[in-house]
Amino acid sequence: MPEYVQPDAVLVARSVAPDEALLAEYIAEMSRTSRFSNYGPLHEALRDVLQRSLLADRVCLFSSATAALVTALRALDVSGEVITTPFTFAATPHAITWAGAQPVFADIDRAALTLDPARVEAAITPRTTAIVAVHIYGMACDVAALEDIAARHRLHLVFDAAHAFGTCINGTPVHRWGDASVYSTHASKLFHTGEGGVLVCRDDVIAQRAERLQNFGLDTDGVPAEAGVNSKMSEIQAALGLSVLPNVAAERAARRLLAQAYLQSLSSIAGLKAFVLPAHVEHSLQYFAVRVSGAATRDGPTRRDATLNLLASHNIHARRYFYPLCSEFPHYRTLPSAQRGNLPNALSAAEEMLCLPFHGGVSVAAQSAIAKLLGLLDKLT
Ligand SMILES: Cc1ncc(COP(=O)(O)O)c(C=O)c1O
Repeated sequence: MPEYVQPDAVLVARSVAPDEALLAEYIAEMSRTSRFSNYGPLHEALRDVLQRSLLADRVCLFSSATAALVTALRALDVSGEVITTPFTFAATPHAITWAGAQPVFADIDRAALTLDPARVEAAITPRTTAIVAVHIYGMACDVAALEDIAARHRLHLVFDAAHAFGTCINGTPVHRWGDASVYSTHASKLFHTGEGGVLVCRDDVIAQRAERLQNFGLDTDGVPAEAGVNSKMSEIQAALGLSVLPNVAAERAARRLLAQAYLQSLSSIAGLKAFVLPAHVEHSLQYFAVRVSGAATRDGPTRRDATLNLLASHNIHARRYFYPLCSEFPHYRTLPSAQRGNLPNALSAAEEMLCLPFHGGVSVAAQSAIAKLLGLLDKLT
């Protein structure tokens, strides 16, 4: 914990603790077998369990979701321009850049906060080779519309599903759409391996290529077939994941209750809107986001930022996911697609969205303190 955070701080996220006895067993096994990496037994056990629980055909485990995204894009041979959302974490456009392509930002839908399919279609040029869409906060993109566009224009479609472990549409996991999806298993995610990422591919050939690229480009005979990197998941990461898994259901249940409590206490606050997903989407419960609308005070912070500061002054630490927009970063802001007039919905989301503390450790006292402070919103202008 950073030293400026007081011990009783209510943080936006808390990592799910592993089953310590199980973790100790796995560590003992690693020492006994002397297997610490290179697709060892724990890596394979985690891959198996995820493959079964996610109902996925092909699962590749990575050292991080960022590495998995770069590798998936390389395995698909993307080049030229890749259309993506600016309302995401830096890893999304950075992965496109590291894969050797140029991100092209398209605006999001104001209500859904995910890529607006019409804006995606309008951004397609002869140089476009792929779309990278993000299931932001674990809410599902308009997968059918994006698949339709990708098919009609012969583009690859990759989903950054970093927040979406558990998100389903009509009972079907989100990775069933697109060529590839990448979940993050960073410590901040509900299911985690400390650091890590999970790539799910529809096509066996792409999955095999991604696995070769994550292992120096080595073929099965150990000879490099192409230039790869090393982004394999280690045994200690897999051990952590296997020991966190038994505690995921309880954390999900706690977050479901917390979401209900938030929805109930926040529903009557003017100028604040919590996200309620359509009935056919099951949420990953990764984040609880609210929209704090209202103009900035004269020369002062926006209403959202005033809310953030008020909570922080009571040792409650919400986060501005995702501010600033990726299109405002110094290395992207000169792109024609980064012009502010092109991205009005993304800009307002970056100025208004706030993620509240969302984990099993948010006590009832903290919940009521948050509700009480947010109830003061009207007085913040
Ligand atoms: C939308 C999004 N994509 C990608 C990533 C990168 O994940 P990782 O930290 O596992 O590389 C994150 C991290 O939180 C994210 O929020």
